[in-house]
Amino acid sequence: MPASRLTRKVAALPAKLRRLARSLHAGQATPDDAWALAALTPSEGRVYLGMDARDREHAVRVAQALLTDHPQASGELLAASLLHDCGKSVRPYRVWERVAVGLVPGRVSRWVPLGALYVRGFHPELGAALLSGVGARTGVIELVRRHHRPGGDPDAALLHRYDNLE
Ligand SMILES: [Fe+2]
Repeated sequence: MPASRLTRKVAALPAKLRRLARSLHAGQATPDDAWALAALTPSEGRVYLGMDARDREHAVRVAQALLTDHPQASGELLAASLLHDCGKSVRPYRVWERVAVGLVPGRVSRWVPLGALYVRGFHPELGAALLSGVGARTGVIELVRRHHRPGGDPDAALLHRYDNLE
């Protein structure tokens, strides 16, 4: 693994461990849904409300942190920040799966496309398909699709960075 990638992985570790700890306490998740829904179209909002409360809470943190540092962020980037993990709602994790899949790197989970690992590995594509099916904005769909592999898209890269921080 190249040194820069290893450095990024190590830097993201505290946030990953915080997410893991929070994932054990579903009942304590208190996402600011009213704030989130104000940034979404009605159909995007319905997809957002279908997400697990822990994923919504994480999404609001990502969106608010990104907006604090980049107040000029587009409405579509803000919406994608709130919806980036919506693909996980097609098959909700059991508690032990939520912990276990968090320990498997995303690219590794794409090699074992079964059950929870399939969702872990392919949730960007699943989320994009879900949003496309309800008529979400095209830019939002593309950012959700690219949020783990930005492929040179600066907004997707920004979302990827704040997703790893929160
Ligand atoms: Fe994700």
